[in-house]
Amino acid sequence: MKALLVNGSPHENGNTATALAEVAKTLNSAGIETEVFWIGTKPVHGCVACYACKKLGHCVFDDDPCNALVDKIAKADAVVVGAPVYYGQPNGALLALIQRAMMANSAGVAGKPVACIAVCRRGGATASIQCLNMPFQMLDSLLVGSQYWNIAYGRTPGEAAQDAEGMQTMRRLGTNIAWVLKNLHNEGASALPAREQWSPMHFIRE
Ligand SMILES: Cc1cc2nc3c(=O)[nH]c(=O)nc-3n(C[C@H](O)[C@H](O)[C@H](O)COP(=O)(O)O)c2cc1C
Repeated sequence: MKALLVNGSPHENGNTATALAEVAKTLNSAGIETEVFWIGTKPVHGCVACYACKKLGHCVFDDDPCNALVDKIAKADAVVVGAPVYYGQPNGALLALIQRAMMANSAGVAGKPVACIAVCRRGGATASIQCLNMPFQMLDSLLVGSQYWNIAYGRTPGEAAQDAEGMQTMRRLGTNIAWVLKNLHNEGASALPAREQWSPMHFIRE
């Protein structure tokens, strides 16, 4: 089984990548393959509502990562979407790609575990997760959660690795995705998975 991890950041090795890598590590240790799909830094089209994709199964714009994403999602058994928070929202390029990819092939996520992650310096992560979840909630996918909302905090690339609770949240998300996948595919994982004990890392110290 394979999980696709979509890195929606313009930074290939930024905090979104750090968070996704923690999920990947846990999935890999549960025997699930992972592949990262980085959306890159080139311009991305917004949906122009031509609906041509409904017949084509692909977007009419073939000069950005949308159609490659459509194909990768179709082949994946699970999908994890990671976004940096920009002004309290997921970054625009990722949103544009997800909207177009889901219009082109909504069946690609049906019946599959999907999870959305937001990474930010300080604020806007829960609103961003809610926004990212929206398409998947109406496309028959199985949204997976963790011990907390799927958030990691950090500003400069890699800083999120210092968010111990955030990294634990990512590992637990990976554990839960693996558990859902194994149950869906009858690989005998019906009891709830063993999980790390939650270690909340409060910002304010006494
Ligand atoms: C245009 C822009 C807007 C941002 N807006 C927010 C914000 O609303 N809240 C926040 O906490 N961080 C904000 N940030 C900081 C990023 O979310 C943060 O640096 C994040 O770790 C970047 O992830 P990356 O390294 O994967 O690109 C913003 C960054 C940029 C470039």
